[in-house]
Amino acid sequence: MRISILGLGYVGCVSAACLAHEGHAVVGVDVNPTKVDLIGAGRSPIVEPGLDELIAEGVATGRLRATLDTKAAVHETELSLICVGTPSNANGSLNLKYVEGVCREIGEALASKDAYHVVVIRSTVLPGTVLNQMLPILEAASGKKVGEHFGLSMNPEFLRESSAIADYYSPSHIVIGEYDERSGDMVEALYKGIDAPLERVSIPTAEMVKYVDNAFHALKVVFANEIGSVCKAHEIDGRRVMEIFCQDTRLNLSPAYLRPGYAFGGSCLPKDLRALTYRTKERDIDAPMLNSLLLSNQYHIQRGIHMVEQAASKEVGILGLSFKANTDDVRESPMVVLIETLVGRGFHVRVYDEHVHPDRLIGANREFLLRELPHIVSLMSDTIDHLLADVDTVVIANGSAAFRDVPGKLRQGQTLIDLVGIVKHHDDTYQGSYDGICW
Ligand SMILES: NC(=O)c1ccc[n+]([C@@H]2O[C@H](COP(=O)([O-])OP(=O)(O)OC[C@H]3O[C@@H](n4cnc5c(N)ncnc54)[C@H](O)[C@@H]3O)[C@@H](O)[C@H]2O)c1
Repeated sequence: MRISILGLGYVGCVSAACLAHEGHAVVGVDVNPTKVDLIGAGRSPIVEPGLDELIAEGVATGRLRATLDTKAAVHETELSLICVGTPSNANGSLNLKYVEGVCREIGEALASKDAYHVVVIRSTVLPGTVLNQMLPILEAASGKKVGEHFGLSMNPEFLRESSAIADYYSPSHIVIGEYDERSGDMVEALYKGIDAPLERVSIPTAEMVKYVDNAFHALKVVFANEIGSVCKAHEIDGRRVMEIFCQDTRLNLSPAYLRPGYAFGGSCLPKDLRALTYRTKERDIDAPMLNSLLLSNQYHIQRGIHMVEQAASKEVGILGLSFKANTDDVRESPMVVLIETLVGRGFHVRVYDEHVHPDRLIGANREFLLRELPHIVSLMSDTIDHLLADVDTVVIANGSAAFRDVPGKLRQGQTLIDLVGIVKHHDDTYQGSYDGICW
């Protein structure tokens, strides 16, 4: 393929050299003449292991060159990768002036180009940027229509500086956000021969994925450092603790607990977090990340309450009382807060949980329920069907298998609020309306 690469920084240089190595004809464009001259001389403008050799090879074979002329580069290629910087403004917001500038230049070049061209944004930009801000610039500057005269895609870059070439050839995954299938096909062709899971998604999803990655990486670093600091205050080697932590690939380093859903609760997480954060205070350790967890969880419970209030009926049914499916443990269940708040605000609440019912419970749990939550016991329905018959808003609050066919039982006018993702793909086949807490 003939490819132009706009912006010859870390991302642009690595992409240019690797694509040329793969046999594509690549022209790199930058506003900085020194970078253009260095590439012309077969040298890398950035320090990156192995890059000098790849650039020298690309230039020697004639598959890689660089220019200051965006218009010519767009005219002689089929696809442009935008790799310019997206720094922070002083207030933390995203500075889009380079991406906007380059989109305008590409648009102006497209105005006088007859052939179809695909514009691919590789720079990291927030969800909505490509479709709401860059697409209008491209269309206005070119006088042409996306999907007809040119294609559009968002293809986030996941490379890490210092291992960028290795990352290019074995990425964790390739994510292609596509305006339409034709654009996505062209971008997919760039990665022929690279063995990695490939996801073709909407443009905003691709934009978001990159921020999620970076936020999570930052979270991991901060988590390890806060835990290490707590360990040090106890004369424990935090490296050894985290080594053991990382051995657990079932619950710790795994997809477990990484599915958006309802708040955490139960007899361990809230209690143990409280004890740990109290201890950090006692030892004068600043651990803002650990300290923020319970607060963030409370905000999430508030989101659930807000959704029920927005549903605009006072008749509410809650399916699930224990903090997760298949247990009768209601200690610190976030559903209890939800129910108590709604009752306090004048809602008529019914509750069903197959495992939590005074007639079926025995021992400590029965005692706890009758002693601590007698007001909730009186709200309990005997069957799901009884509950559904009485309410307008149905809240699925834990992932019990018994609730799976509830969406199909809804009648016209009922609202389903899904706090756990029991409905995988909402397809409007249900009678009632549907809303998920974080999807
Ligand atoms: N550096 C990384 O490891 C990395 C990894 C993944 C994603 N990203 C993202 O990729 C994007 C690029 O990052 P980078 O580190 O390569 O940036 P960089 O600052 O190193 O390079 C950007 C280049 O774009 C050039 N440029 C600016 N305006 C231009 C224009 N109108 N025409 C042509 N060139 C122009 C600049 O001169 C500069 O050489 C950013 O959005 C960044 O967040 C970076």
